[in-house]
Amino acid sequence: MIGIFDSGLGGLTVTRAIHERLPTADLLYLADSAYCPYGPRPVEEIRARALACGQWLVEQGAQIVVVACNTATAAAIEVLRSTLPVPVVGMEPGVKPAVAATRRGKVAVMATSGTLASDRFRALINAYAAEVEVYALACPDLVEQVEAGAIADEYTKTLIANHLAAAADADVIVLGCTHFPPLTPLIRACAGPEVTIIDTGPAVAAQTARIAERIGLPRGEGTLRCFTTGDPEAIAQALVHVWGEPLPLTAVRIESV
Ligand code: SIN
Repeated sequence: MIGIFDSGLGGLTVTRAIHERLPTADLLYLADSAYCPYGPRPVEEIRARALACGQWLVEQGAQIVVVACNTATAAAIEVLRSTLPVPVVGMEPGVKPAVAATRRGKVAVMATSGTLASDRFRALINAYAAEVEVYALACPDLVEQVEAGAIADEYTKTLIANHLAAAADADVIVLGCTHFPPLTPLIRACAGPEVTIIDTGPAVAAQTARIAERIGLPRGEGTLRCFTTGDPEAIAQALVHVWGEPLPLTAVRIESV
């Protein structure tokens, strides 16, 4: 079984990519909604939540843990890998493919301030984007819009347009937060048809599939069970917007480590 967690509903975009890549794998999704958003929280708190979520997934039987959250990956991937007894897969903003794709040498990265301020992001820029202009766009308000299910409304579009105004000449946009793929139609409407939009969900799913093969993950029945540390009723409608149809959600209480 593969355990996947995020601060909220955004990681469902990665879950879908994993399900498409590994249709017989059983998936367990945990939305840490009681602590969403992670982006503005201190690194120590994000680390404590990530550890608690990762440990809970392992206790439920996860043989691989996927951190379907860029902010949690930036804050906690090392401690998760050194603590959990199973392989841990993390997110990474797609800076490398963005640099390969840009023709103008200008790339925008939409993410949380936690991701953009992290050492991991700085290292990524230094490694791959030294010759390219990178617009780092902190978009915490968009995480909240997705958590509210407002993935297609005019106000969300206005917020996106305001963010992208600072990167008007970028020809590649990196979705550096798992909450943002559902906003792709609005982002494209604001940025224009020529812009390349990069989502690393499929690459993370491919990496998860490689690990599943390496460890001999048993075939399952392709089930998906979803849990939240928040109030299932409060996010049920937003979940439909992100996933496309209702999913049963069970409440769970998980103390911080
Ligand atoms: C957040 O919880 O602030 C966003 C999650 C992410 O970075 O993917």
